[in-house]
Amino acid sequence: MTRRLETIAELRSWRQGLPAGPGFVPTLGGLHAGHQSLIRRSLDENEHTVVSLFLNPTQFDRADDLAAYPAVLADDLAVLERLGVAAVFVPSQDALYPDGFAYRVVETRLARELEGAHRPGHFEGVLSVVLKLFELVRPRRAYFGEKDWQQLELIRGMVEAFFLPVEIVPCATVRDPDGLALSSRNRRLTPTAREQAAELYRILGRAGSADQAREALGAAGFAVDYVVDRDQRRLAAVVLDGVRLIDNIPLKARPPGGPENPE
Ligand code: PAF
Repeated sequence: MTRRLETIAELRSWRQGLPAGPGFVPTLGGLHAGHQSLIRRSLDENEHTVVSLFLNPTQFDRADDLAAYPAVLADDLAVLERLGVAAVFVPSQDALYPDGFAYRVVETRLARELEGAHRPGHFEGVLSVVLKLFELVRPRRAYFGEKDWQQLELIRGMVEAFFLPVEIVPCATVRDPDGLALSSRNRRLTPTAREQAAELYRILGRAGSADQAREALGAAGFAVDYVVDRDQRRLAAVVLDGVRLIDNIPLKARPPGGPENPE
C-alpha cells in the first residue's frame, strides 16, 4: 500500500525510517506512461521509491497554462498504488513555500535561453522546487525524462554547483506509436491537431538542419518558438492549435537520409 504523506513532518518521519536514500520521481501530477516509465525504473533500481505530486505554481509563467494542467489526484494515486510505490508526497503550496518564494534558485546562463527565453522565470520555479524536494526527500537517485532536456541539464548543473548528494538518472523519452512525445499537454489537442502533432518528431528527424526543420514545421502549420542544434541534439518548441509542445532528438547516430533518429 502506498503511504500518502501530506506534511513535511510526515515525509521526514517516513524518510527517517529508511536504511538508505530512496529513488525519487518528482512530478506535477497528471501521470502518463512517460512518468510511469520513470517510476518503473526507480522501482527496479531502489528498494524504496517515493513520488511527489505537486503542481508547482512558480514554474508556470501563464495562469491559463497552470489552470489547464490536469488535476487528477485520485487517478494518480491509483496508478502509484498499482505500480507498488512505497510513498507519495502530496504537499500543499504553503508547506513548500513558507517564504512565499522570496528565496529562489537562479541559474544565469542556460536558464535564460530556449524555454527560459519563452517562459520567463520558468526554470527559477523548477530549480527552486526541485532543490526543496531534494532537501526533504534526500534521495539516492532522482529520475527525470529526457523530453525536458533543458530542465535535465539545469538540474544536473544545480546538483554539481551545490554538491548535492543525489544521482540524476536521465530516462529516454516515451513516445506514442506515431512518434509524439508523451506530455500532459497532449490531452489538450483536438483530434485533428493530435494527428498533425506527430509531424513534429518526424520533421525534426528528417530535416538536414535546424533551419530546414524550422521551415518545414512552419509549412506543416506549427508556430515555431525555436529549433536549435546543440550538444548533439536538436531541440524544438512549437505551438499547435494553441497548445505548446516541446521535443528533442539526438543528432548522433542518424542514419544518412533516414527519417527517424533512434533514441
Ligand atoms: O518535469 C516536471 O514534471 C517538473 O518540472 C518537476 C521536475 C516535477 C518540477 O516541478
